[in-house]
Amino acid sequence: MSEEPSPANKNRRYLLIGATAGATAVGVMGAATPFVKYWTPSAKARAAAAPTRVDIAALRPGEILKPTPAWRGQPLFIVGRTPADIERLGQENDELADPASDNLEKQPEYARNAWRSRKPEVGIFLGICTHLGCSPTYHGEPAAQDFDPNWQGGFYCPCHGSRFDLAGRVVKGVPAPDNLVVPPHSYLSDTEIIVGVDEETA
Ligand code: FES
Repeated sequence: MSEEPSPANKNRRYLLIGATAGATAVGVMGAATPFVKYWTPSAKARAAAAPTRVDIAALRPGEILKPTPAWRGQPLFIVGRTPADIERLGQENDELADPASDNLEKQPEYARNAWRSRKPEVGIFLGICTHLGCSPTYHGEPAAQDFDPNWQGGFYCPCHGSRFDLAGRVVKGVPAPDNLVVPPHSYLSDTEIIVGVDEETA
């Protein structure tokens, strides 16, 4: 036969329950603090994600901007294109895997054209191969190369031999599955761009 606990025993039981609940709450708060700290972006992280201004006054047709600028820790390939480059890129080329930039994730809408850029004479790409992330090398001149005797100018990834034209469009049959990424960007003036911002502010 069970007996009703005395009032003194009842009070002791409530005290124990209250103490346990309090200890659990403190434990949860203690455990949560590091996560809050972890998820709060540091000033350094915010700066790394910020848009990047690039002075392109020194860019010449047929050249790549040096030193290589960076955006979000990734190299930016900014190339000047000659009138002959622009004309060649506008011609049909059935050696390319995605000549019309049908993969919409690889460029903003305003770069969905033969040059994959706002201005035909300037190309802006992330310098990261879409295969496994190596940085391709720039070979702007149409001239025979060891890796392609019929080279028409563009980017070559030495890691596994992927090739891209001067609009960053990948050649069929290489390991890289996609065109180079064109980051969002705008012109602040004829000689300055901002990468990471889509709106026209010029
Ligand atoms: Fe460029 Fe493999 S990482 S071809």
